[in-house]
Formats: sequence, C-alpha cells, structure tokens
Amino acid sequence: MFNFASGPGMWPGEVLEQARNEWFDWDGTGMSVLEMPFTSDEFKSIARRARDDLQALLGLPENYRILFMQGGAYAHFALLAMNLMGKNACADYVQTGHWSNRAIIEAKRYGQVTIAASSKATGFDCIPAQSGWHLNPAAAYCHITSNETANGVQFHWTPDTGAVPLVADVTSDFLAREIDISRYGMVYASAQKNIGPAGLTLVIIREDLLDQAMDITPAVFNYGFQAKNDSRVNTQPTYSLYLASLIFAWILRQGGVATLESLNRQKSRKLYDLIDADDFYFCPVAEADRSLVNVCFYLREPALEARFLENAEQAGLIHLKGHGAAGGIRASLYNAMPVAGVEALTGFMQSFADTWRDRAPRTTGTAAR
Ligand SMILES: Cc1ncc(COP(=O)(O)O)c(C=O)c1O
Repeated sequence: MFNFASGPGMWPGEVLEQARNEWFDWDGTGMSVLEMPFTSDEFKSIARRARDDLQALLGLPENYRILFMQGGAYAHFALLAMNLMGKNACADYVQTGHWSNRAIIEAKRYGQVTIAASSKATGFDCIPAQSGWHLNPAAAYCHITSNETANGVQFHWTPDTGAVPLVADVTSDFLAREIDISRYGMVYASAQKNIGPAGLTLVIIREDLLDQAMDITPAVFNYGFQAKNDSRVNTQPTYSLYLASLIFAWILRQGGVATLESLNRQKSRKLYDLIDADDFYFCPVAEADRSLVNVCFYLREPALEARFLENAEQAGLIHLKGHGAAGGIRASLYNAMPVAGVEALTGFMQSFADTWRDRAPRTTGTAAR
C-alpha cells in the first residue's frame, strides 16, 4: 500500500520500527521516552540531538535559532504577526493559494497587511514573477508560502526583499529540498509532512528579530522568550520531539537533504511527465512553478473522478483526493514516499486512462477547466 496523504502521511518504515523497539526502554534507561520529565538529562540529550542534527542538515548559520514549538503553522500565522509586528505593525504578503490566504486572514488581526502580489485572478496557477511585486521597504517583514500544499504551486526561487526580512511558511517542503536559510529572516513549519507528528511546530529565526514581539504575545508563544529558554518555557511535546529526532537522523543516513531533493525531483518528474503526455489528465499549474511534493491534477472528464479514487484505493493507492479548496486529485510525494510508490501510481493512471478513454460518461462544459 502507498499513502499519498498530504499530511499526516507516510513515515519511513525503519523510523517506525526504531520507535517501536525503543517504546518500553530508551537506551537502557528502563524508561519509555513518554515517561521522561522534559527537564531530565535523558530528555535534554534527545532534544539536543534533534537540534544538532537539524542544524547539520540545514548548514544553519550561527545567528539563527531553532525553536521547537506547538500549535501548528496555522497558530503561527497569528503568532508570527504578534512576534514580528511589535515595533512596526505593517507587513507584506504574497498570495499564492489556500494557505497564504489563511496566513493573511490571521495576520490582519494584528497589523496592516498589504498584498504585495497575488495569483488569485488566475486561480492560483502560478507564482507571480517578482518584477510585478509591490514591496513596502518599511514593512516589518514579507511573507511567502514556499509550497502551497492545496494548490500544488511552489517557489523555485528565493525572492529578494532587500532589507525587509523574508518570512516563509515552509510546512510542506521543509527538508524535501535544499534551502539557504540565510536568505530568510524566519521560516516555520508544521511537522506532519517531513519532520514528525502533527502539533510539533518548528520556528527558525534570525536572532536580531527576537525583540519585536507585541506585549500581548503569550509567554509560551513568544519567540524571544522561548529562544532564551531553549524552547523549554513550558512542557515540551516530548514524544513528538523524540520522533522528529529519529526523522532527522534518518535523513542524515539517506545522505542529507540534497539526496532527498534529487529523489523528490525524480518522483514528481515521473508523474508530471505522464500527466502532460496523456490528454486524459491535466495539471493547470504553470510548468515552472509546479510543486515537487504535492502534484495536483484533474481528470479531463470530472465525472470519472470518484471512480478513479475508488479504483486507486482498491489498487492500494490511498488518500489521493484533492484538497477541498482545489478539488481534483493530489498525490503528495514527501520524503518517505519511495520511487516505487510513484511507479505504482503512474502504472495505475496509465491503465485507468486506457480503460476509460473512450468510455467516459460525458459532462458538459468541463473541457476548459
Ligand atoms: C503550507 C501549509 N501551511 C499551514 C498548514 C497548517 O498546518 P496545521 O494544520 O498543522 O496548523 C498546512 C497544513 O497542511 C500547510 O500545508
């Protein structure tokens, strides 16, 4: 079976196995990680290992801090605004799909939000070229969503925002491709795609931005206060952090982020090649802006969509339904998805198209979708 869910989704089998083997007794301590106080030396060593491995995976510059937080990226849509707009309550946002829309709605509660660029008019089918952006040089930050999980659109370049810190929601492509963090003021991500269990949230922030929080910011969500306290202002999500440490170690064993990126490129290329070659399917996203990790596409004949999903499931290819905001089909190809999973999917798609190409029930008015 291959699980194409957009997150939580597939995990590397060897990581699950390791967690099972260590469930009752971590490293000869006689304790499950679940039983360890977050202030204990044992747990602190797990958290330190997670941080060190992540630093190594990213080649993180010394003036950046890793914060292990909670709430999910959705909570941080609001929290980052509280944390960064305390001195200057205006920010630029680039609107590229479902998740940047949510980020904009939340940030508006805390300051003046300007849409610097948008692809809304064309149904979020591309990343707007930077030549058309209207950036405010006085903004506290400029926010992008590096990969729109629901729309299948991804930045394949890093915007230049001058002295204004670039802030990115990297929830769905973090550790799936290389990133030069020094180009960003802050990146943040929910864990459930490529990091660990849902709920755990990573914030990586440049030290000089840790003093901009509004007074109303809750202590446990104050990035500066968390940085001073090594992310231990309150009880950490200990087991989630432990699982993330296993994932980071697994990525290192695979050869690091560059190796996984190259695999992710191969996987998505196989799928896009089939979609483009067969008129039975189509992907509306501009070729240069297509996501490596969320391949969103449609059947030219939408009346066949339900049958496609049902037959795929019978073939062991599960959770392929598109996000509610976009519809259609979505195959999420995060780090744990093997090339064999994509080959199984393309094989199924080919044979489904061959079976239904001439037998499709006709729906009117869909050809232009
Ligand atoms: C790009 C992006 N941002 C934010 C979120 C929200 O994450 P959470 O539900 O963990 O808060 C998601 C969830 O899928 C996402 O894909």
